[in-house]
Amino acid sequence: MKNMRAFSASILATLLLIAASAIAQDQHPAAKPAAGAPTALINGYEPRWWKEAVVYQVYPRSFKDSNGDGIGDLNGITTKLDYLQQLGINVIWLSPHYDSPNADNGYDIRDYRKVMAEFGTMADFDRMLAAIKARHMRLIVDLVVNHSSDEHQWFQQSRKAKDNPYRDYYIWRPGKPNPAAPNGFDPPNNYPSFFGGSAWQFDPATKEFYLHLFAVKQPDLNWDNPKVRQDVYSLMRFWLDKGVDGFRMDVIPFISKQPGLPDLTSEQAKEPDTVFAAGPHLHDYLQEMNREALKPYDTMTVGEAAGINLAQTPLLVDDRRHELNMIFNFDAVRLDRNFGSWAPPKLSRLKGVFADHARALDKHSWDTVFLANHDNPRLVSTFGDDSPEFRVASSKLLQTMLLTLRGTVFLYQGDELGMTNFHFTSFDQMDDIAFKNAYKQYVGSGKVPEAEFFGMVNHIARDHARTPMQWDATPNAGFSPAGVKTWFVINPNYTQINAAAALADPDSIYHFTQKMIDLRHAHKALVYGDYQDLDPTNEQIYAYTRTLGEERFLIVLNFGRSPQTYTLPGGVKAGSLVLFNLSLPPAAESHAATLSLRPWEARVYRF
Ligand code: NOJ
Ligand code: CA
Repeated sequence: MKNMRAFSASILATLLLIAASAIAQDQHPAAKPAAGAPTALINGYEPRWWKEAVVYQVYPRSFKDSNGDGIGDLNGITTKLDYLQQLGINVIWLSPHYDSPNADNGYDIRDYRKVMAEFGTMADFDRMLAAIKARHMRLIVDLVVNHSSDEHQWFQQSRKAKDNPYRDYYIWRPGKPNPAAPNGFDPPNNYPSFFGGSAWQFDPATKEFYLHLFAVKQPDLNWDNPKVRQDVYSLMRFWLDKGVDGFRMDVIPFISKQPGLPDLTSEQAKEPDTVFAAGPHLHDYLQEMNREALKPYDTMTVGEAAGINLAQTPLLVDDRRHELNMIFNFDAVRLDRNFGSWAPPKLSRLKGVFADHARALDKHSWDTVFLANHDNPRLVSTFGDDSPEFRVASSKLLQTMLLTLRGTVFLYQGDELGMTNFHFTSFDQMDDIAFKNAYKQYVGSGKVPEAEFFGMVNHIARDHARTPMQWDATPNAGFSPAGVKTWFVINPNYTQINAAAALADPDSIYHFTQKMIDLRHAHKALVYGDYQDLDPTNEQIYAYTRTLGEERFLIVLNFGRSPQTYTLPGGVKAGSLVLFNLSLPPAAESHAATLSLRPWEARVYRF
């Protein structure tokens, strides 16, 4: 048991913590108010296009292959923009599209101003961006500047000599002499890498170590060097000048390092991300970034907030501080998957997270709503029920929840189809570096039996989210032409679960998501309204209200397979039914206090 816990903790640390490792712009994007013009607050919030947006994350490698090389690409995305526009989303977040040797699928950037050759050319990017704008959508790109690739020219220079002008672009330290250690030195401190082993790599050319909180091929940039910061601001301006609308910032709290880089204490070593995120200059650097790069543009920024707790969140997102618009906290997406064996998420704990968010963020701090991305297993397999019987209903219930909570909603590609986890059984099927390192560390060394390891992997691996989009029922799922070897395994359930089938079925998850997005866009109460959980401890029913003045919504979700007869607490009556998720409408229960809810039923009422 002890071993299992330790194993789980390490695997989680490696596979998950990593990613601790964060509109309705309607059809006509809101014009920026003239400088000095007062903006009428809505429920105390300053209205902004990015608060009203529904964002859709595209993982380009897995979205659509246009040229038959088995790898998704930019022209592929361009061919699918109508599909996204029809869904109703406002903003696309594009995971890294930059030149990269792909040690971590593009999160290791070799050239920040170049498009990855496998994804196309800059002309393809420009065409894609113009086509996005032509459809009244916006684009945010990934900004990965805690680290670069070791193949970036800055690092190539930096590693050459201690007096190279680029030496201080990265974090170099001498090791601790130890004749018994490989190369004669121990690493400068005890920092672990999120991808396993030490966060320090010895470099023979200068006999010093460089810091890499992630893979060996992802050296951390030295943000204390003002030249690094200026180079980053300049590359941000490069993409903003092209017309991108903002950035999702990768592990941004890690950019300011601890002075002197002391060892982690044993207590700190349990959650190293909280120490990495607590550098003394984080807020200075983000405010400087605002002044130097973001201010002249009308942008949206969302930081992936590894190591940041809710109490610290306003320091990053309070709009009077001019740092970030929003961050991704991981408390919901990682629910019940922290430092212990995997357990199905408990509804009361999920509600607890949303309640904590509602309490911690005031009218100056905006939130994000998401339960999936490229670093987590599939939405329906984790928070719903991916069995053939309940996959559709539970996917629709989850979309109902995401699209009626407060905060900017981030949907992940394929969840609008109810794509599921892949059943992985062998090392060769997998791609993720985090998985591969963990496999070598635990299975390769004989510490953990392979079957046990895959038992865990099949619940938590990042690779579940990275299997190619399932566009149709033809071989290769319409992702690549038939006969092509795709870069990654395709889930065999594509013959049933695919976009063509969803588009042809008016009752599909896609069409339901479309309706929910329309509803959110039509009612400011669903964006800015107050949130109240009517029954926080109920483990199967999630009932909550969203209120903006006279406009009041009641959302009732039956999170499970068993039917429930549910009496709304506090004398609340249901009101009139606006939307429901099952094929047949519920019995006439409008204005009732007691509801008969079918398995995984979701209802939205006005009351
Ligand atoms: C977070 C990204 O989401 C993840 O995919 C990546 O591996 C790490 N940051 C390192 O860049
Ligand atoms: Ca391709």
